[in-house]
Amino acid sequence: MQANHSETVQSQFDPQAQAYLQSAVHAAGPDLLYAADLISQSLPDAAGKLVDVGCGAGHLSFTLAPAAASVVAVDPSPSMLATVDRVAAEKGLGNIRTLQASAESMPFDDGQFCVVASRYSAHHWLDLPAALKEMRRIVKPRGYLLMIDVEGDENPLVDTHLQTIEILRDRSHIRDRSPSEWARLMADAGFSAIEHQSWITRLAFEPWVTRMRTSPERIAMIRTVQREAPAEVKQALAIEDDGSFSMRTGLWWARA
Ligand SMILES: C[S@@+](CC[C@H](N)C(=O)[O-])C[C@H]1O[C@@H](n2cnc3c(N)ncnc32)[C@H](O)[C@@H]1O
Repeated sequence: MQANHSETVQSQFDPQAQAYLQSAVHAAGPDLLYAADLISQSLPDAAGKLVDVGCGAGHLSFTLAPAAASVVAVDPSPSMLATVDRVAAEKGLGNIRTLQASAESMPFDDGQFCVVASRYSAHHWLDLPAALKEMRRIVKPRGYLLMIDVEGDENPLVDTHLQTIEILRDRSHIRDRSPSEWARLMADAGFSAIEHQSWITRLAFEPWVTRMRTSPERIAMIRTVQREAPAEVKQALAIEDDGSFSMRTGLWWARA
């Protein structure tokens, strides 16, 4: 029988914790510096309780932990959580604990956290509106949402090509949301956006497909879609000869 989405997420991510720990795209980026600044400016006494939803190998948790009282790193993948536990211990970050759960249903009481955060994960969530409502439930009144994710394109032609190569590369992909979709989803969940910024992220083809163990058949399909894409798509996604391309990553800072 075909796996359901949660099983697909597990099979895509669970064997890849080390790859995500070492991934250049995930281990660095302007967003990590900016996120640390936002947290230390908004919670200057480092007394806040944070949650990192879809923590993966933990890069956002490791960045925010020094500016927080505690961080709960949440992910459905046991091996991602084991990696976070191990690396947090190596880094001496004793205020990080891990918890196995999905964004759509988290075993926390209402209004527990000063900041609910997530990075490079929401495009895998089966029910993003429900997950955002869950994040709104567990954040304190007037608490913050920090959301970082790759973005869809407002132009439907470009967006269709982008989502197509994403799902061919990774069967657990659901949707990269455009800035206007994010604004609506966050408002519907009860968050008001304070700021949004975005920047170009270049994805080198080889590590991008290797990280997800994309099959040769699927790689060939991606290359066909890229090769046959209309000129405006090739330009918007800056598709290179070897399949490397660029898309935007967005950071949202919003308030409950
Ligand atoms: C690309 S990794 C995350 C990267 C990480 N946040 C970082 O900053 O490096 C995506 C993670 O989202 C997790 N994930 C997928 N679906 C999820 C869901 N519904 N709820 C929470 N996490 C989910 C996966 O298990 C995976 O570990």
